[in-house]
Amino acid sequence: MITTGPTYEKIDPVRFIGNFSSGKMGFSIAEKLAEEGAQVTLISGPSACKAIHPNINRIDVVSAQEMYEASLEHFPHCDGAIMTAAVADFTPLNPLNTKVKREKSNYTIELTPTKDIAASIGNIKSENQFLVGFALETNNEEQNAQLKLEKKNLDLIVLNSLNDSGAGFQHDTNKITIFSRKGGMKKFELKSKTEVAEDIVAELIAYYAE
Ligand code: CTP
Ligand code: CA
Repeated sequence: MITTGPTYEKIDPVRFIGNFSSGKMGFSIAEKLAEEGAQVTLISGPSACKAIHPNINRIDVVSAQEMYEASLEHFPHCDGAIMTAAVADFTPLNPLNTKVKREKSNYTIELTPTKDIAASIGNIKSENQFLVGFALETNNEEQNAQLKLEKKNLDLIVLNSLNDSGAGFQHDTNKITIFSRKGGMKKFELKSKTEVAEDIVAELIAYYAE
């Protein structure tokens, strides 16, 4: 199972809070795993990406809550999960049923935390299931990534570097470091997301083989 893309959190019937995630990383990993023979359940937030391989079952969701529900429903039937989605950390507490009008001198939206999907999966995963997370950090990158690995009960975490130009959101390239729960760390060069997907799948297979 793979989660990908951004989530959209509803403010009113015509507006949402979102983020710049394109979904490319998750779709690339889905294609690579499908080519390797896996049946892939791809849970995607709003994304213009297309799933091509027939072994990919794409499930479209919009909000963090919907992604949470779809993930918990499908994970028990999967060998593992790769959480690439850029899930909103906060959502409007009281989304409005009618459009917010312009006639306001100021306007505050109260936000409430969303559920941590990766951590919830980490809580229920069995010994035979693997869990790979992603981390997007702007400071204390390696330390924060390792903390997330432990906190969410992950087997591997892929650190994305936003400090490198050409890497991350809305780019076709990515520069990653993979940390393993067994203590290993591997740095990769700036590469296309298709090549990065190949590296991640190769690491996952190597981790599993051990
Ligand atoms: N994640 C998730 N559900 C959330 C938030 C994050 O499944 N509600 C997953 C992401 O898909 C990613 C990992 O958790 O695999 C780390 O996401 P990140 O945003 O880097 O970490 P957070 O735990 O949200 O912490 P913060 O944003 O405060 O750094
Ligand atoms: Ca976050």
